[in-house]
Amino acid sequence: MKFFVDTADVDEIRALNELGLLDGVTTNPSLILKSGRDIMEVTKEICSIVDGPVSAEVTATDYEGMMSEAAVLAEIADNICIKLPLTLDGLRACKALTSAGHMTNVTLCFSANQALLAAKAGATFISPFIGRLDDMAIDGMEVISEIRKIYDNYGFTTQILAASIRTVNHVKDAALIGADVATVPPSTLKALVKHPLTDKGLEAFLADWAKTGQKIS
Ligand code: G3P
Repeated sequence: MKFFVDTADVDEIRALNELGLLDGVTTNPSLILKSGRDIMEVTKEICSIVDGPVSAEVTATDYEGMMSEAAVLAEIADNICIKLPLTLDGLRACKALTSAGHMTNVTLCFSANQALLAAKAGATFISPFIGRLDDMAIDGMEVISEIRKIYDNYGFTTQILAASIRTVNHVKDAALIGADVATVPPSTLKALVKHPLTDKGLEAFLADWAKTGQKIS
């Protein structure tokens, strides 16, 4: 499973990238707002830190507007992935951009049928939002499972990018189902390493090691 980080915070991105854990980055208008920075400037900086796909989202809602914003975003760097909403205009733009050789990420996906349409439009990634479905008492993970089955039935190569991840169990369950990518907030990504028995075991090893009086040198 590939790990993308869902943030526009360059300090967080740099730190996670140095750990060797990052395969890409996803941003959206809300994350740009949170960063307090200019979209072009911050996206350029992110693209210079991470080699993998960096999703930058269009904000126009009509096909022509999406295409002209996509042209501006695509100029930022070679690893830009154009993020488009799951609307008819978004799907049309997805088809055109994919055919022109761009990476595309179709976002705001909440059903298997929407994901089927994105695959038909040639999307590189489909972003089903797990947490926002769970918030409405609809099982977000079930949608990931349905999409996996449908894509496998027909050999669609669109990658399932599990998004709106809120917990470490979301990551585990998406991995068990076979989602290709998880885009995870920095805090959740770092929480994946945590286990009380790891901390306890390390403490015991270090205490015993101190008693040996040895040094590895
Ligand atoms: O980038 C899309 C996404 O992951 C949104 O997450 O937490 O705002 O539902 P959230």
